[in-house]
Amino acid sequence: MSEKFKISNLDLYYGDFHALKDINMSIHANEITAFIGPSGCGKSTFLKSLNRMNDLVEGCKITGNVLLDGEDIYKGMDVNLLRKRVGMVFQKPNPFPMSIYDNIAYGPRTHGIRSKAKLDEIVEKSLRDAAIWDEVKDRLKKSALGMSGGQQQRLCIARALAVEPEVILMDEPTSALDPISTSKIEDLVIELKKQYTIVMVTHNMQQAVRVSDKTVFFLLGEVIEAGETEKLFSIPQDKRTEDYITGRFG
Ligand SMILES: Nc1ncnc2c1ncn2[C@@H]1O[C@H](COP(=O)(O)OP(=O)(O)O)[C@@H](O)[C@H]1O
Ligand SMILES: [Mg+2]
Repeated sequence: MSEKFKISNLDLYYGDFHALKDINMSIHANEITAFIGPSGCGKSTFLKSLNRMNDLVEGCKITGNVLLDGEDIYKGMDVNLLRKRVGMVFQKPNPFPMSIYDNIAYGPRTHGIRSKAKLDEIVEKSLRDAAIWDEVKDRLKKSALGMSGGQQQRLCIARALAVEPEVILMDEPTSALDPISTSKIEDLVIELKKQYTIVMVTHNMQQAVRVSDKTVFFLLGEVIEAGETEKLFSIPQDKRTEDYITGRFG
């Protein structure tokens, strides 16, 4: 499997607070990598450092290297291009207050696509790939805000797909959803890894086991253990990993 991201010696500070400590990790293409760990241990912070969302946080300082296909994303890379290549889906579905169609067409339009035929094609393909086309094809002009939470989250995934990213970052994408919607998103994510590299934060260890190839366990800003999901959950190498996955703290 080819290495999509290679992170070395990454440290991140929010002002004086040392939020990520010497992170070293490879993230492979066409795999699902899950980040687990207790609340506040730096999972979201690390996820956001992969497409420079932390640039928006005042007082945030990052050192070390984050290579995407061998190129350092913090050294001269155009941030808009980076975010096109590395898309993001958040915990709470956040559709724009506009039609289903316009939610999907928004990104491609900002990247200069004007042709109606081309936009129609992108909208249909993105919604199909996010497994929601059949549910919305007859109401594309209706507001996205009228959809259920689970539908909204698949719409947000479709919106991320519409700009043809290489990597999709997902921060607890199912934590606000019911079990049926959660299961749909899990199936979808497994399907998407054929074409994309997926990095997913989850507070749900069963979810990591169900969907991910690799798991990374974070604790207090450090990576304690990382590796094959099956192995990490069956024969953890570190006592802290074992304590966490067996529910001794969390
Ligand atoms: N914008 C911010 N400014 C200051 N501290 C932050 C900010 N975002 C997160 N933190 C702190 O960084 C630590 C890691 O947070 P976070 O990455 O959100 O953890 P997780 O996603 O694992 O719950 C926490 O202690 C949190 O309070
Ligand atoms: Mg978080």
